Amino acid sequence: MKEKLEQIKADVEGILKDAVDLDTLENIRIKYLGKKGELTSVLKGMGKLSKEERPKIGALANEIRSRLEAELDEKKSAISAKLEEAKLKAEVIDVTMPGRKQPEGKLHPLTKVLNEIKDIFIGMGFQIADGPEVEYDYYNFEALNIPKNHPSRDTQDTFYIEDNIVLRTQTSGMQVRVMEKTKPPIRIIAPGRVYRSDTVDATHSPVFHQIEGLVVDKNVTMADLKGTLEMFTKSLYGEDTRVRFRPHHFPFTEPSAEMDVSCFVCGGKGCSVCKGEGWIEVLGCGMVHPKVLANCDIDPEEYSGFAFGIGLERIAMGKYDIDDLRLFFENDLRFLDQF
Ligand code: PHE
Repeated sequence: MKEKLEQIKADVEGILKDAVDLDTLENIRIKYLGKKGELTSVLKGMGKLSKEERPKIGALANEIRSRLEAELDEKKSAISAKLEEAKLKAEVIDVTMPGRKQPEGKLHPLTKVLNEIKDIFIGMGFQIADGPEVEYDYYNFEALNIPKNHPSRDTQDTFYIEDNIVLRTQTSGMQVRVMEKTKPPIRIIAPGRVYRSDTVDATHSPVFHQIEGLVVDKNVTMADLKGTLEMFTKSLYGEDTRVRFRPHHFPFTEPSAEMDVSCFVCGGKGCSVCKGEGWIEVLGCGMVHPKVLANCDIDPEEYSGFAFGIGLERIAMGKYDIDDLRLFFENDLRFLDQF
């Protein structure tokens, strides 16, 4: 019996030496030390031993069992440590490796140009005003001295929501909204979307952007209008840019004008961008009509003002040499990525 126990010990130690994984260890434990294991079955024969031998063999068996258990444990932690080390090695991260490049978002070209324009006017002491795109007939037309029979009120040009509510066709209604709330001196720009019932093509869109400007104070003259807009143009396009004013008509300004800038591509000689003209039209403007001031409870005898409306798309098209308005609204990344 003693030999059998020693044999088990030798067997286990022999296998343990070469064991490299945890499964083998568990199998050894079950086969030799488990309830139905070899050691146990040897001990079952103890009854046949003499009284003197029994305690000796019992003690030996216990000693061998605890020795083997200790050896199994030791081997188990050795193997676990090795597996852990191998795993760490396999999963090692090289923190010095360059990262994957994330695609970067960009500002829309219209937003970029608008930001530039805002900066220029803020630099001249203007504030930014904001107002609704769904607008009362009163602000879009009536208060701006646009009579009921005016062609711009036709459903061919204007989107009507209800009889007296429209999608604003111009930002000029903001002149009235600001003058109703603020007493002069006033110096604001009001950028925003406007809507007209146009079919989409390279130069027309049912939605586009304007930047309204309004200055009201005592003794404001046409010279202030021209000086302000010339200064704005030179800041945006460069010192060499020239401006010219052509007489025009708007019901809410008197006198009224359109302003052209010398072509930023050819400098005025005539090219494909300015269609040989040398000039490009960028805005409408004029002295605020006395009736409009009076509609807002501002005394036209005491105060005067000027207003202008800049077409944002037009400015951006010129600045970036873009020949199709639709590109701004189609969200094609191949286009947007270039800015
Ligand atoms: N609202 C005019 C337009 O849409 C532009 C304008 C604004 C003209 C302010 C004069 C004064 O054409």
